[in-house]
Amino acid sequence: MKQFKVRNINSDAVFTVKEGESVLNAALRQGVMLPYSCKNGTCGSCKGRLESGEVHYPFHPPLALGREEIADGFALLCQAEPLTDLEIRAREIEAVRDIHVRKMPARVIEKTLLAPDVMRIRIKLPSAQRLQFLAGQYLEILLQDGKRRAFSIASPPQAEDEIELHIRHVDGGGFTSWVFEEMKERDILRLEAPLGTFFIRNDELDRPMIFMGGGTGFAPLKAMLEDLLAQQDERRVHLFWGARRTADLYLHEQALEWAAANAHLQYSSALLDAADAQASGSFHGNVHEAVLHEYPELSAFDIYMSGPPAMIDAARGAFLEHGADERRIFFDSFEFGLDVPIRVLAKKH
Ligand SMILES: Cc1cc2nc3c(=O)[nH]c(=O)nc-3n(C[C@H](O)[C@H](O)[C@H](O)COP(=O)(O)OP(=O)(O)OC[C@H]3O[C@@H](n4cnc5c(N)ncnc54)[C@H](O)[C@@H]3O)c2cc1C
Ligand code: FES
Repeated sequence: MKQFKVRNINSDAVFTVKEGESVLNAALRQGVMLPYSCKNGTCGSCKGRLESGEVHYPFHPPLALGREEIADGFALLCQAEPLTDLEIRAREIEAVRDIHVRKMPARVIEKTLLAPDVMRIRIKLPSAQRLQFLAGQYLEILLQDGKRRAFSIASPPQAEDEIELHIRHVDGGGFTSWVFEEMKERDILRLEAPLGTFFIRNDELDRPMIFMGGGTGFAPLKAMLEDLLAQQDERRVHLFWGARRTADLYLHEQALEWAAANAHLQYSSALLDAADAQASGSFHGNVHEAVLHEYPELSAFDIYMSGPPAMIDAARGAFLEHGADERRIFFDSFEFGLDVPIRVLAKKH
């Protein structure tokens, strides 16, 4: 089988890519931690520069790369497969290098409806196993037919052997419909974790942080906030949570309590429904507009955001126009699984 050699000029790391393997998967397999989130070519987290060599995109077209970016030498490393040896320039992420990704079973111990279309489930890991992860990372549920479904871990690492997930019901969605309609307490799920590179950076501790979530995008931000509180880390955080209606802010009271009890935390909500926004004192409009209304100049902030791809796309563009530093915007875009047809994914972008 053919193999290609890839060198990351930024770190001098060298790894090999097997024929038919993406640059990202090969790097992760060999402990080179490149940033990623969706792994299906739509979120843009894995963008890197191709300094020499040639790649192709045989599986998913690189939806998150514009024509101009391809002409400027950028590549989406989760989809790019080498045709020759390569030299790339990509950021590497030290913090997750020593955390092992593992497959394990877990038992469902609680299933609670938090909003009409949001289910909280708590799962318990086998007694001998603790999952090491960074607050903000996600896991994948492994389904019997080989499919995988990604969900952010909503509980902090301090929560021992129990993990909380917030699952939104997707219309026509296979797994989430099963969770809502059939899954019972005591059922066993198989999962792989921890995954992703969405977690709090600790290299510039004096920068205030904006956390922005849309819908169940609140889940990883909750884990991050609870982790900061558990560590008595008093960096300034302003949490913005956006949704359609009041009922969708399914832990609004909890967020208000955090802000009331901690002077370094602020909380603001944004709702698309005008009447609900007025009644609840929320900003009326998109959540990224609420951020910009409060902070029209963003260069001082580290920004963490998670939720629907359309929200992430809109926010990213607008925040860059308002001075945000591209290297200090971190996000998880809640894309559908790899097996969902590309025409369905493309419709959302
Ligand atoms: C890093 C990450 C973290 C995430 N975290 C969370 C989280 O914390 N909470 C959360 O709620 N979500 C989260 N998501 C999103 C979540 O993974 C998806 O909502 C989930 O995968 C949907 O699974 P499903 O099996 O129910 O839907 P699928 O069956 O995958 O269907 C998805 C959509 O595609 C359509 N579709 C599928 N197949 C076809 C077909 N053949 N033809 C036409 N249409 C089709 C369906 O009708 C549906 O609208 C996250 C995603 C990522 C990438
Ligand atoms: S586009 Fe590659 S990880 Fe999302």
